[in-house]
Amino acid sequence: MSDGTISINGKAYPFKPDQTILEVATEAGISIPTLCHLKGTTPTGACRLCVVEVKGARNLLTSCSTPAASGMEVNTDSPAVTQSRKMTLELLLSSGNHDCLNEGSGTDTKVLFDARAEIDGHSDHLCPSWGECKLQEYALAYGATGTKYPRAKPAYPPEVNNPLIIRDFSRCILCGRCVQACNEVQVNEAISYGYRGSESKIVALGDLPLFQSACVFCGECVQACPTGALVDKKSKGKWRPWDVETIRTTCPYCGVGCQQSLHVKDGRIVKVTGVEEGLPNKGRLCVKGRFGYDFIYSDERLTTPLIRENGELREASWDEALDLVADKLKEIIGESGPDALAGVSCARSINEDSYQMQKLFRGVFKTNNIDHCART
Ligand code: SF4
Ligand code: SF4
Ligand code: SF4
Ligand code: FES
Repeated sequence: MSDGTISINGKAYPFKPDQTILEVATEAGISIPTLCHLKGTTPTGACRLCVVEVKGARNLLTSCSTPAASGMEVNTDSPAVTQSRKMTLELLLSSGNHDCLNEGSGTDTKVLFDARAEIDGHSDHLCPSWGECKLQEYALAYGATGTKYPRAKPAYPPEVNNPLIIRDFSRCILCGRCVQACNEVQVNEAISYGYRGSESKIVALGDLPLFQSACVFCGECVQACPTGALVDKKSKGKWRPWDVETIRTTCPYCGVGCQQSLHVKDGRIVKVTGVEEGLPNKGRLCVKGRFGYDFIYSDERLTTPLIRENGELREASWDEALDLVADKLKEIIGESGPDALAGVSCARSINEDSYQMQKLFRGVFKTNNIDHCART
């Protein structure tokens, strides 16, 4: 139900109760830059990049946290708005180790990257988020560089002592998206803001390393981080955004069926992320779905059926293996009746497969000896 209209850039748009200016603008296809806003969570107004001009208001207002009101006249692109956003970006770039932008160096992230790699002789130490960083993207769009203000010295060394997530505090802009992702999206409540002023830091509770904290390594914070402050350790340095194709698929681990994006370079998965608009997970993944893809490349992985003969396993075709299983099942039923059989379906398979398994046991074999390993 509409709650009236607001005017954005001179055009009237209806809005629903409790919608923010940002939400109305986004629905209308009007783009407003955001860094701290995380869809579906409580707005924090931390970054002030989403400011807009509202007629009659004394200051620019943050569109992510300001509710739309009937008759409001909003300008998302005025000179004051653009100037404010540019200054915000310049301050954020100076707040830490954001060395990917220098004056007059163009706007294409790959061109910028190649030029810097050539000057430095190698690219290994360049920011791992180069080319997929929202701060870099907006800085380029608004012509902001990290050279306007003196660069703050890093207050904390990076945390690299777990196998999955690198926390580089020197590239953290304290936007709080990771905190929202952990506490409001995954509801793990493992991290929060800690300390004050220039000592401010995102801390795992008690300021412990992640692996000693309540963190379950779901990696939701990594996906939410708009900069190079949280990095997937396994994929670091193995790819850049212009190297990969993205393939949508369903997670192979359990019946929930989370939607994943596989980032593939030269035919090999280098990173996995959740599909933000995909159901049922809406971007969320657990530790297995996000980080557990190495098994695909394991030499120990079974790729054909194996039949045991005289104590030895030999490779077989699917037809041969399935015929053998069917014959054995018939033999057992013939000799001892259907209740001599029992089936356990796999929690890693999809719900439909488990359903088919119980149909097979109940409807075809005529036994109720059917269970599911999730109950163990
Ligand atoms: S985090 Fe973003 S802005 Fe900072 S150095 Fe990396 S790419 Fe540049
Ligand atoms: S990995 Fe998951 S549990 Fe750990 S801090 Fe990030 S969001 Fe929280
Ligand atoms: S770690 Fe990333 S998401 Fe978290 S506050 Fe810092 S920049 Fe924002
Ligand atoms: S996105 Fe609105 S204040 Fe950060």
